[in-house]
Amino acid sequence: MPIETDEAKTDVAKTDVALEPAHVLVAVAGGIAAYKAAEVVRGLQKAGCDVRVTMTAEAEKFVGTATFDALTGHTTLTGLFETGHDADDPIAHITAAGWADAALVVPATANIIAKVACGIADDALTTALVALPADVPLLIAPAMNVHMWRAAATQANLKMLASRGVRFVYPETGRLACGDVGEGKLAPVEQIVEEALAQLRRSHAGRPQPLAGKHVVITAGPTHEAIDPVRFIGNRSSGKMGFAIAAAAVAAGAEVTLVAGPCTQPTPAGVTRVDVVSAAQMYAAARSVFADADVAICAAAVADYTPAHPADHKLKKGREELDHIDLVRTTDILAALSADKGDRVVVGFAAETNDLIANAQAKLARKGCDMIVANDVSRADSTFGSETDRVTFITAAGSEELPTMTKTQVADELVERIARLIR
Ligand code: CTP
Repeated sequence: MPIETDEAKTDVAKTDVALEPAHVLVAVAGGIAAYKAAEVVRGLQKAGCDVRVTMTAEAEKFVGTATFDALTGHTTLTGLFETGHDADDPIAHITAAGWADAALVVPATANIIAKVACGIADDALTTALVALPADVPLLIAPAMNVHMWRAAATQANLKMLASRGVRFVYPETGRLACGDVGEGKLAPVEQIVEEALAQLRRSHAGRPQPLAGKHVVITAGPTHEAIDPVRFIGNRSSGKMGFAIAAAAVAAGAEVTLVAGPCTQPTPAGVTRVDVVSAAQMYAAARSVFADADVAICAAAVADYTPAHPADHKLKKGREELDHIDLVRTTDILAALSADKGDRVVVGFAAETNDLIANAQAKLARKGCDMIVANDVSRADSTFGSETDRVTFITAAGSEELPTMTKTQVADELVERIARLIR
């Protein structure tokens, strides 16, 4: 069993970049510096960005898609006719372009710069870049041989792109992979990340902020209920949905406190995160934050039961009882917050395998909340840990079924409806 103690401290950490959560499409072209794109991806994620990667066939010779799949949690987009970031999306390159708040080409070869300048779209990467909406900023970090960099054609292409508002993180002078010394060395990773974040800050200015001035508390992830200092009862929740909602709420202008059970999701930028372990800790944290909040969204997979008598020492099989554990019910956080919510908005989730609407309607009434997001987890595109969900929003006024969407899209739709409920 995984090791876990019941002594979890409540840790409040605020990400240091005051940036709205952002989607960054990283386009990796075929140069030796392609391996550095992985570090750029990590840097963007550390600042709370959700990153997707598209790469050329040449780039794949330098770095495998598996590296970026693993880092981003999204399938790397490589071919026009292959599955893209979202399973079964036949136009993944267009979807990726529409999803992006900013795009970053790293490293950009002379060839890619020429193609982007001319609007050539002959693979997934270049097609996604041509399909970028006009208001999505494009940042290019070139890296190439010094003679290719100085070539009149390259310089003319750079000028043309700059005149259209494309920005560059210019290469440094140094020893290049080919042995030449001169300009062409990829700029430092930190500088590229910083420039991309600055672009994002600019591009997010002026967006509608329907939750401005509102404080939203969100529970997310699983809880772990201690049996003894090394064993616990837990569940497989990834926390993805709650974290996506946190990012969407920050983008909508809300002050967001995310009460997170044990999970490995990166904290979205601008979100205050309170780490908890057990259901009791999650309840205490959510209750205390809700005192000062306008909205509560209970997206956590809270354990319904917890061991009645967690041992303070490691239990020994054979000598002590481990084949029978007395359990007691945990507090239902959603129901408890709903009970004294007044005119505040409380939203819960329901994972159902059958009678989705009827069960979710019953849950809405039983818990006393304003909305239930019902998720049909019997579907392949809507299971625990998947990137997509098929949800139905249920309120006292009726139900609204949405098509299969990414969790990020579901989060945006949910935030929009919560803003309406507040009004
Ligand atoms: N919830 C909670 N605190 C708990 C248990 C659940 O806040 N101790 C919240 C979840 O975050 C979610 C909703 O309640 O928003 C899920 O309701 P729940 O009754 O747990 O439903 P299921 O897990 O689907 O279980 P069942 O259908 O068996 O009641």
